[in-house]
Amino acid sequence: MFKSYHKILLSTALVVATSTAAFAAYDASRTYPNGKKVIDGGVAYLVKNGKTAVYLVNTKAHKTSFKLGRKPLKCEEDAWDIDVMYDGTGLPEGHGTPEEGSEVYEAKCVACHFDFGSGGSGYPALAKGNAYELHKTLKNQRLHPDDEGPVRVFGTYWPVASTLWWYIKTGMPHPAPLSLSDDEVYALVAYIVQLNELKVDGEELDDDTELNRENFLKIDMPNKDGFEPKIRKGPDTVRAYFDNPKNFGGNKKRCMKNCFEGKPVLARINGKGISDYLPPISTKKDLPKKKEAAAGGEGKKLYEAKCAVCHGTDAMGAPMVGDKKAWAAVLKKGLDKVIHNAIHGINGMPPKGGTNLPDEKIKEIVEYMISASK
Ligand code: HEC
Ligand code: HEC
Repeated sequence: MFKSYHKILLSTALVVATSTAAFAAYDASRTYPNGKKVIDGGVAYLVKNGKTAVYLVNTKAHKTSFKLGRKPLKCEEDAWDIDVMYDGTGLPEGHGTPEEGSEVYEAKCVACHFDFGSGGSGYPALAKGNAYELHKTLKNQRLHPDDEGPVRVFGTYWPVASTLWWYIKTGMPHPAPLSLSDDEVYALVAYIVQLNELKVDGEELDDDTELNRENFLKIDMPNKDGFEPKIRKGPDTVRAYFDNPKNFGGNKKRCMKNCFEGKPVLARINGKGISDYLPPISTKKDLPKKKEAAAGGEGKKLYEAKCAVCHGTDAMGAPMVGDKKAWAAVLKKGLDKVIHNAIHGINGMPPKGGTNLPDEKIKEIVEYMISASK
């Protein structure tokens, strides 16, 4: 995981660095150079000698030598490469029992993941009962879909157990990653395997059964082929799999357009149609009017920007916007006079409030001030 993650990062950088013309030309064909279709949603990029990759490789960048840094030493690479692979590569020596794991769990994990890995308040559950139960895994949901969807915890969802070892070792406990010993990690994995009621070498773990490097790969993962089955045997297997409707429950063909036959059954809200409500549910599609326009438009905006310093309070002797009485008194002079005064100034009121706005704008602002003070 660590390695492949790194590759993705690297490739993403290369994609960004390469010209989009080459990208478009190859993507448009949507086939591999051998004429085969690209797998669902995939993109094939030509690499070299007719080979392809899912990420664009910028061969130009490979030739460039930046002459920076040095090659890492073997020991540096080893320290960095703490990956644990699905086939056990990278799994260190060590051992632990569910009982030991439960002790570590109580001390270092329970605060977030709760009793028996039940999860809660934003922290993921690590188990939800027996992971073999029919409806729970992704694979079973594909073959016998129901409304609940797959249960997404380690036992029911994750295809391989090595991910759990690696995840706990490098990521948990959340505030102190890489702080657990290898034995503690084995013990925690054993405990979580037990909570999920998974079988190891055909049997559930007793409290004192040891999980170690030898029996680790015998952890039976119910969803092991739930994602893209047998993908490790190559693209042809995957293509054949996706072409077989039996793998999707029933005999329906997979379909991307004009899939619907017959009269559609409309989805209803609480069993009611749109017009069964009183008043009926709105089917209007225009956007609501902008708030500003509804409440004063530009006049308001300009007022706030240019005049509110003085007219937002009565501290300076300016008629305060919103003060009904003050504005009623001002307006006794007549609107024209008031606008004239706003433009030419009066006493503490500087001409145009100290701005160089055109007369019509001042008029618009004054109208807003009056309407907001009624
Ligand atoms: C301070 C809170 C905290 C503590 C303590 C903690 N975790 Fe976690 N754990 C989290 C959070 C948050 C996530 C989800 C991280 C994410 O999805 O990015 C998580 C995710 C996980 C997952 C992945 C679950 C999934 O299905 O995605 C595992 C496994 C896990 N923790 C195990 C442990 C173990 C074992 C310990 C004790 C050594 C532990 N955690 C301690 C907060 C914590
Ligand atoms: C530096 C402070 C200040 C600013 C900025 C200001 N005003 Fe005034 N304004 C006053 C004062 C003080 C008065 C009261 C004048 C008086 O009657 O003695 C006043 C009065 C007014 C009146 C009433 C005039 C009348 O006939 O009594 C209007 C209308 C007005 N201002 C509009 C505006 C507008 C529009 C702006 C922004 C473009 C603005 N003011 C910016 C201080 C200000």
